[in-house]
Amino acid sequence: MSRPRVFVTRIIPEEGLARVRAACDADVWDGPLPPSYETLVERTRECDGLLSLLTDRVDAALMDACPRLRVISNFAVGFNNIDIAAATERGLPVGNTPGVLTDATADMAFCLLIAAARQLVAAERSIRDGEWRTWEPMGFIGQDLVGATLGILGMGRVGAALAARCHHGFGMRVLYTDPLQNADVERDLGAERVAVERLLAESDFVSLHANLDDATRGMIDAAALAAMKPNAVLVNTARGPLVDQAALLHALRSGEIFAAGLDVTDPEPMAADDPLLAEPRCIVAPHIASATVRTRGAMAEIAADNLLAGLDGRPLRHSVNPEVAPRTR
Ligand code: DGY
Repeated sequence: MSRPRVFVTRIIPEEGLARVRAACDADVWDGPLPPSYETLVERTRECDGLLSLLTDRVDAALMDACPRLRVISNFAVGFNNIDIAAATERGLPVGNTPGVLTDATADMAFCLLIAAARQLVAAERSIRDGEWRTWEPMGFIGQDLVGATLGILGMGRVGAALAARCHHGFGMRVLYTDPLQNADVERDLGAERVAVERLLAESDFVSLHANLDDATRGMIDAAALAAMKPNAVLVNTARGPLVDQAALLHALRSGEIFAAGLDVTDPEPMAADDPLLAEPRCIVAPHIASATVRTRGAMAEIAADNLLAGLDGRPLRHSVNPEVAPRTR
């Protein structure tokens, strides 16, 4: 039997890529930027499997243009780049890579939280700009962490891991919102599930960990920012469109909130002349929360497992739509 044909949309770590290459006839896109949508469709057209990234739009039209496709494996835990309903309708299993990003992403959320609270980036920039003249009794005064209140919007794996760091390390009180109660964080961290209004009104740090969907898009809008404390720090390591960036710019400029730390933006990449980048109290990173050696290697391994399982007609290791029965050729 001939080897399955797959399209891999970027170079990913060898932990996964080597296994895909060993088992498949793999077309691996090695450009410095993702393929265009048209190229993605063209290169996937004759393929049995697609290993995609969060930068690839995988929609119903692509699925229809690729009739041989038996599995889509996303190299990410998030899957808002894929039309899951369309995949499910067409009997296409979709894999993702949950679990292995939890610590790296929670670490980055904490990194942004403390760096924004202490104005680290603006302070460092002032030295490079030749502005460090003396020890300043009133300069770069930031926010305290110990004993603060942390509000988590979306208490999944990453939210819980950040809450544990802040509670055990800094004695923070934890509030959260989530469609589901999380008994573990309530027992282990004394976390309290509250209405979003109360969370915004009481939290010194607000960190976003919700999936992006129609219900969560723009959840941090002008009204939400106005409801936050003036000393509050907003952290987003989930998805950029959760935040209305124009409203965030206004909230920072007017002092409605103290600072923001963003690992994700809308759009990505953020333009170099985006006004948020000129805000001294806004720290922006280029979507790197999962960028550690171990995490990216583990993501590649799972993405390869999901792809190969789908091609073999076996259940995926992590499926976003487990109700879809795997297909054989
Ligand atoms: C994911 O996997 O969804 C992350 O955003 C990548 O860092």
